[in-house]
Formats: sequence, C-alpha cells, structure tokens
Amino acid sequence: MSSSQQHAGILGIGSYAPERILTNDDLTKIVDTSDEWIVSRTGIKERRIARDDEYTSDIATQAALRAIEDAGLTPEDIDYVLLGTASPDNPFPNTAAWVCKNLGLMDTPALDVSTACSGFLFCLELATGLVESGRYKNVLAIGAEKLSSIVDYTDRTTCVLFGDGSGAALVGMGGHRIHQTRCATDFNYDALYIEAGSRCPVTKDSKGNGSHLIRMNGREVYRFVVSKAVTLMEECFERAGISAEDIDLFVPHQANLNMLEFLVKRLEIPAEKMMVNIQKFGNTSSASVPIALDQAYREGRLKKGDKVLLLAFGGGLSSGYALVEW
Ligand code: ACO
Repeated sequence: MSSSQQHAGILGIGSYAPERILTNDDLTKIVDTSDEWIVSRTGIKERRIARDDEYTSDIATQAALRAIEDAGLTPEDIDYVLLGTASPDNPFPNTAAWVCKNLGLMDTPALDVSTACSGFLFCLELATGLVESGRYKNVLAIGAEKLSSIVDYTDRTTCVLFGDGSGAALVGMGGHRIHQTRCATDFNYDALYIEAGSRCPVTKDSKGNGSHLIRMNGREVYRFVVSKAVTLMEECFERAGISAEDIDLFVPHQANLNMLEFLVKRLEIPAEKMMVNIQKFGNTSSASVPIALDQAYREGRLKKGDKVLLLAFGGGLSSGYALVEW
C-alpha cells in the first residue's frame, strides 16, 4: 500500500446512539428468553432504542453532523448524500432526502442504499467512486437505522439481536485513504427478508399482519457469513499484497460475537485487533461498522498509517469490505 494525494479518503467520522437502553433483562419481560442465553449465543448485553418521535433520518442527521464537524466543514460543503438503511423513514421521499432537509441542503443528490447491514460499505464504495471521478467533492456516506420499527418483539429469535443508531463518514480527496473497496450480492431470500413490498403489498386489510417486520434464518446467515467473509478477506489481502498480521484494526459488522471470534481465528487476525462493541449496541445493521469505527477513533485506537479493515454482511445476501489507511 502506498500513499498519494490523488485519492479519496475519509475526512471525518461521527456516530450517534439514542439514549434509551433496552437490556437483556428488559427483554425477558417481553419474550421467553434469558440474559444467559442472549450473552452466551450473541455477546449482546444491551441495545439502544430510539424515541417514538425520532426517525431514521433524525438518527442519521446526528451522525452526519458529527462527521461534518470532525472534518472541519459545514453542511453547505456537502454535495452528495448516500444513506444505507433497512429501516427508511418511508419509501419516498427517501431517507437521504430527509437528511438533506434536516441539514438545510437543497439541490443536492440524495440516495438510499438498500443492502441491509452492508449498506454503509456500499455507500463508502460509491462515495469513493464519486469523489475519485472528480464529479463531487464532499460526499456523506451514512449508515442509519431505527430497527426497533421493523423488529418483531414477539419473535425471540430476532428481537434480542437488534438496536438503533447511526454512523457516518465524510469522503473527499485526501484524508484517511480508502485503498480498496469491494461489495457483492449473493441472492438469497429465505435467509433474511422483509416481505412487504410489491410482492406482498400492504393493503388496508393486511396492515398490521407483520409483513413489514424482519424475518431471519440465523443459522443460514451464520453459514453464509463465515464462508463469504473468509473468501473476501483472502481476496483483500492478496489484492493489497498484505497478510492478516499487517491489519492494525479489524472493524466487522457487529452481528454475533461468537461468529466474529470464529472468523478472526480462521483469518488469523489477533483477537485484540478486532473492534467489538456488540455488548452495548447489539446489531445496528448498516450503522454497526461506522459506530464501531467512530468509537475506536474517539478512544484513540487509530494511529496515522494504521491499516483498518472494515467488513459487513447482511440481507441480500450482501457483503462488502473496505481497506483504509488511517
Ligand atoms: N432466547 C432463548 N432461546 C432462544 C432464543 C432466545 N432469544 N432464540 C432462539 N432460541 C432457542 C430456539 O427456539 C432453539 O430452541 P430449540 O432447540 O428448542 O428449537 C434454540 O434456542 C436454538 O436456536 P437457534 O436459532 O438454532 O440458535 P443459534 O445458536 O443458531 O443462535 C442466532 C441464533 C444468535 C440468531 C445465530 O444463528 C446468529 O447470530 N446468526 C447470524 C445472524 C446474523 O449474522 N445476522 C446478520 C445480518 S442481520 C441483517 O442483515 C438485518
């Protein structure tokens, strides 16, 4: 990996989590589960839940403002907004458009990316291309979720996993260089889906039948993640001419601690080089990687020149990684 000024990079990052905490003990009052089951199977202790009047775009805007401030810029400097989400405010206007409204931006392209938990990685790849093409200067890549609005709180197999939050990166020329990005989709409906849509229209009669809620076959997702992630990471190391031991910080999608521990062992990345905050936030889907990256940054875990590997996977089934030099 070599540095150059003619590259897109991360100019600033930020994240946000709603104040309200939902603990495992709180969940035992809603479904038949236990703190012991949740911690031993997933590593999760608690997750954040947005207020009723706080929507995905509001959550996204908080992270965006922090990333803009971190870059030393102002909202007026933004000329493209990309937002990954599985829980949009509504189908249209898209959630990125709501963010533009919140930031006071007019005449600005705004795009939602619907690749579930990989949304932020897809946005980062698109932002890199938009900046390096020379067409746009400062592109916001956001991952934001109000998953509590699409979680079935009668389904113990999913409701214990998910939480709300957001993270954002401001991408422009210079900054922390984005060396490589790669995204993929391997179609699989049954593993992870939400039914509602043109295939399953929500009518006046069907409203309330739960078709808008997340359905997941956890074991199938687990199997996919483990094999796909290994293939992608090996490809990344080969393309970059590095090995696992060169990675300074590994920031994976916070989906399941056991799965992540298995993954780093298989990839031979030392466990202490993995950023883990699933205990406090659960799985925040597209927000998970930028929240973890921002936390690492604010805790001083990132030094100039560090090689940072971001990895996400989710509904689609989608996956993506980025290799960033801090
Ligand atoms: N509390 C207590 N028992 C439970 C709970 C719960 N919350 N949930 C399930 N169980 C029970 C099941 O009913 C089952 O009981 P049975 O044996 O009597 O039938 C037993 O526990 C085992 O269930 P499994 O689903 O087989 O449990 P598993 O060990 O596979 O763990 C989990 C489930 C945690 C979901 C795991 O499969 C996983 O994390 N998969 C990956 C999910 C993922 O990575 N998602 C990322 C993408 S998310 C996105 O894109 C939106």
